[in-house]
Amino acid sequence: MTETQALLQAENLAKHYPVSTGFMKPKALVRALDGVSFTLEARKTLAVVGESGCGKTTLARQITMIETPTSGSLRLGNIDIASATPEERKQLRPQVQMIFQNPYASLNPRKRVGSILEEPLIIHTSLTAAERSEKARAIMAQVGLRPEHYGRYPHMFSGGQRQRIAIARTLMTNPRLVVADEPVSALDVSIQAQVLNLLMDLQQQTGVAYLFISHNLAVVEHIADDVLVMYLGRTVEYGPKRMIFETPCHPYTRALLSATPRIDAAQRKTRIVAKGELPSPLAPPPGCAFHRRCPFAIDACKTDAPVLREVGGHLVACHRAGEI
Ligand SMILES: Nc1ncnc2c1ncn2[C@@H]1O[C@H](COP(=O)(O)OP(=O)(O)O)[C@@H](O)[C@H]1O
Ligand code: SF4
Ligand SMILES: [Mg+2]
Repeated sequence: MTETQALLQAENLAKHYPVSTGFMKPKALVRALDGVSFTLEARKTLAVVGESGCGKTTLARQITMIETPTSGSLRLGNIDIASATPEERKQLRPQVQMIFQNPYASLNPRKRVGSILEEPLIIHTSLTAAERSEKARAIMAQVGLRPEHYGRYPHMFSGGQRQRIAIARTLMTNPRLVVADEPVSALDVSIQAQVLNLLMDLQQQTGVAYLFISHNLAVVEHIADDVLVMYLGRTVEYGPKRMIFETPCHPYTRALLSATPRIDAAQRKTRIVAKGELPSPLAPPPGCAFHRRCPFAIDACKTDAPVLREVGGHLVACHRAGEI
């Protein structure tokens, strides 16, 4: 793989879940992920942002190989995760690690920090016990844990410290990609910045790429290189972070920005609010899925689905992008 080749590339990636709608009724399809494309390079962070229920965790489960996509491709280096053989998946697994939202549920309460960290090495490497322990202690120091923490249990730590343990665990196999699913959402605001700074430092040191998931645009402002905004399983806006924050073109992105406390004067002028709730993904509205909540909707929005197109140097799926 050359330096310039993408580390992770999704093309038209979809995951549909058949769900029961009642006794004797036919199954319906939840289009949790419905044709998403993006590129992520080594040492970069792609933030995936959208309300709860828009398909972010579904995306994480495809990338981390917990599930298999319904269609589309998802290439890690030159292997397509979506159609990889069991042997290829085994080879890819240590290269892709995941940090979960809830640091209270994601660490085994019966294991000490040392054995939590060494477990991935038992699964994926042939290192000796002494080598595993040495590696665990080195990574602990790297994430700001002290040597005496090695023998302690997760319940003895605060939420922020637990998330450091979870981050340390992901680094044990020297992954090329870490998928972080709302890694700071469960933490106190005062602790969030520390964990985000740690993630950024670790990226500098190791070259790891992050796919960073958040429902909150403000959280990704410092850590992201690119931002992909999702709505009901689809991309509504995707581009370099600066463009998404300074010249957002999609009404949904602008509503998300208006809802964050970081708005500057320019954005306050164009403050917009999305009406109502996220529609059911079982029965998404026709046309633009956002039209019932959009203050700029026109008749065409009710019938024609907008396609992703370039507006002002990045990608937007809105009939009125560029004019509003
Ligand atoms: N295993 C599943 N079976 C059926 N529906 C699912 C399943 N997993 C997720 N969904 C649905 O897919 C949609 C997206 O869910 P999810 O990816 O968890 O969203 P997010 O992480 O953005 O909150 C939701 O409507 C959710 O109910
Ligand atoms: S396509 Fe229409 S309804 Fe959808 S976001 Fe754009 S203006 Fe709003
Ligand atoms: Mg989620």
